[in-house]
Amino acid sequence: MTENKDNNRKFSLTTPLYYVNDKPHIGSAYTTIAADVIARFKKLQGLEVLLITGTDEHGQKIQRTAESKNIDPQLHCDRTASTFTDLWQKLNIQYDRFIRTTATNHEKIVKEFFARVQAKQDIYLDRQQGWYCVSCEEFKEERELNEDKFCLIHTNKKAEWRDEENYFFRLSKYQQQIEDLYAKNPNFIQPETRRNEVLNFVKSGLKDFSISRVNLEWGFGIPEDPTHTIYVWFDALLGYVTALLEPEQEPTLENALSKWWPVNVHLVGKDILRFHAIYWPAMLLSAELPLPEKIFGHGFLTKDGQKMGKSLGNTIDPFDLVDRYSADAVRYYFIKEIEFGRDGDFRETRFINVLNADLANDLGNLLNRTLGMIKKYCQGSLPKMTAAEVPQDNPLKTIGSELGDRAAAAYDNLRFDLACEAVFALIRASNKFIDDSAPWSLYKQKKQTEVETVLYSVSESIRLSAYLLSPIVPDLSNDIYQQLGFGIDFNDFSKGDCASVYQHHSQWGKLPANQNLGKSKPIFSRLELPEEITE
Ligand code: MSP
Repeated sequence: MTENKDNNRKFSLTTPLYYVNDKPHIGSAYTTIAADVIARFKKLQGLEVLLITGTDEHGQKIQRTAESKNIDPQLHCDRTASTFTDLWQKLNIQYDRFIRTTATNHEKIVKEFFARVQAKQDIYLDRQQGWYCVSCEEFKEERELNEDKFCLIHTNKKAEWRDEENYFFRLSKYQQQIEDLYAKNPNFIQPETRRNEVLNFVKSGLKDFSISRVNLEWGFGIPEDPTHTIYVWFDALLGYVTALLEPEQEPTLENALSKWWPVNVHLVGKDILRFHAIYWPAMLLSAELPLPEKIFGHGFLTKDGQKMGKSLGNTIDPFDLVDRYSADAVRYYFIKEIEFGRDGDFRETRFINVLNADLANDLGNLLNRTLGMIKKYCQGSLPKMTAAEVPQDNPLKTIGSELGDRAAAAYDNLRFDLACEAVFALIRASNKFIDDSAPWSLYKQKKQTEVETVLYSVSESIRLSAYLLSPIVPDLSNDIYQQLGFGIDFNDFSKGDCASVYQHHSQWGKLPANQNLGKSKPIFSRLELPEEITE
């Protein structure tokens, strides 16, 4: 296989391929927003990026959902898959590939891969007995069930007893190689706490797992034994590979893997980390294919401190949230508020308070008051000066000079919360600097150079903040840039604008002198708490 050449200029990443049993929930939105933030940051840095998302459409869960609605499973999948693309559009997600596992080119890839694993003698027929959770699409150990045989993740669905012939994948054969992989690549699984969980699981001994189902039509048949359907997880993981095919390419593994494989990071929720960090690398080792660089397992979202679920009646509808508060508001809250990797909570009062404090007050007011003063004291154009003229001990110059590198390191470590924190430290320092230096008094005292120095350093801090926040709140950053007189569009990387100016714009001190301002308007209106919420 051709290796991924020129890795440094390319970056590929995936979200999970979401089950289409229902329309997307906030958990799917969460991972996809995070993936989009990473992709946008890499694009700002001038990298060629491929963001893969899509839907996982086979298996018992989907078959049963379609049956319960009395419709053809494919029709059900078609309808539900489009609710995902609708949401991604609403959330301003710039994905490059949307793979559906019912695509015909995917079947060819899955079968070619299956044959490679078979050729390694890694597939055999045996008897499978055990408790199966259809919602997880996974056999469960006794300890993963409660005393009534309900799975601990899906507490409203009883696991089903299965006793059938299945094809098995020889996972146990890869025990040592998997342990070596983790030892040689300490960053393969992140964050650290989740890595330890996986390491402990692997240490307890890997068991072969079944990769076929009987009495299930909705899936790809096993070529020599069509009474069996390929297990939905075996099929779905390969979706990451099929997604790499160019539309006109022949669906072969060689083609699929030629440009973008191995991907740089698979983003997944903690509940499906095991599939990605153990089963998937073992499957790839068996097929003698390169392994992905990193698997990142993020935490779970709760609502008002409670586990979310349809049966609990406390789900968060991402469509509704975006309609009420805007894409940037939703993106900002989840990215800033929750350390990526840890569990996090959504509470509407907190959501509104965070957005009002950060976006409406600290950032929105700062822009407003600054532009107002520039109009009044500098005839409506940015001050006629450059960063070199700003004294070294200017507090914003000091903080701003380190900010580009600090934010980049935070983004690279997927610590989006820290990136936001660093940027908001500059924003808050800017508000304080205005209060402390009182340009209105300086103006009265006819100290024009000092007025301009304050307004230059504040405007430049706003610009840099907007730039560094653009992967998270691209619309808001566009508004700020436009008001400062720039023509850059953070939603359009096709012209290469953002990337070509990156080195320049990611540093403090690059605001051009005397640039004409655009039309000013509030960038983020204060949000009110809906009446029905009283807290
Ligand atoms: N189809 C599989 C993935 C196959 S990838 C080759 C699947 N789909 S899923 O739709 O059930 O889950 C998708 C993602 O949503 C998972 O990463 C899961 O962790 C995430 N979440 C489900 N509930 C969640 C929360 N409450 N909070 C955060 N993420 C959650 O699994």
